[in-house]
Amino acid sequence: MSTTRSVYAVFAVGAVAILVLAACGVTGPKAGSPEALYVDLGCAKCHGENREGQRSGPPLNALTDRWQEESLLEYFMDPKAVMENNPRLKYMAEGFPIVMPAYPDTSEEDLRKLAQFILSS
Ligand code: HEC
Repeated sequence: MSTTRSVYAVFAVGAVAILVLAACGVTGPKAGSPEALYVDLGCAKCHGENREGQRSGPPLNALTDRWQEESLLEYFMDPKAVMENNPRLKYMAEGFPIVMPAYPDTSEEDLRKLAQFILSS
């Protein structure tokens, strides 16, 4: 094989490898997946990449003892209204410099995916 041809061969193998990696999602979470929504909607910014919590938001773990999919859906659409009737949330909010934002324009399908995602840990 001439040198030029082997250089082409190396390129081709490299390109295929990149395509395979991209298809497997190694380059990041798949668009529209719960993991991607969690980052794209800004949840990660306040609640931490791994839902561990930080100064701008509480940890999102062990939520199942106080949240279900339906109540989370209601909360995402209007956190302020839900908080008004929930002393625990009100008390928690006092510890944070910013409030949990509302997501009235996000599709119900996406909000459900997110709810299932954060309830699953
Ligand atoms: C600007 C920062 C911020 C963003 C963005 C944000 N949150 Fe929050 N979140 C908070 C804060 C602060 C609280 C505590 C309640 C309050 O202060 O309103 C909270 C509370 C919560 C709670 C209740 C936790 C509990 O222990 O009961 C859930 C669930 C939640 N957030 C999920 C999400 C999800 C999912 C997203 C993305 C769609 C998100 N949050 C985006 C700041 C944020």
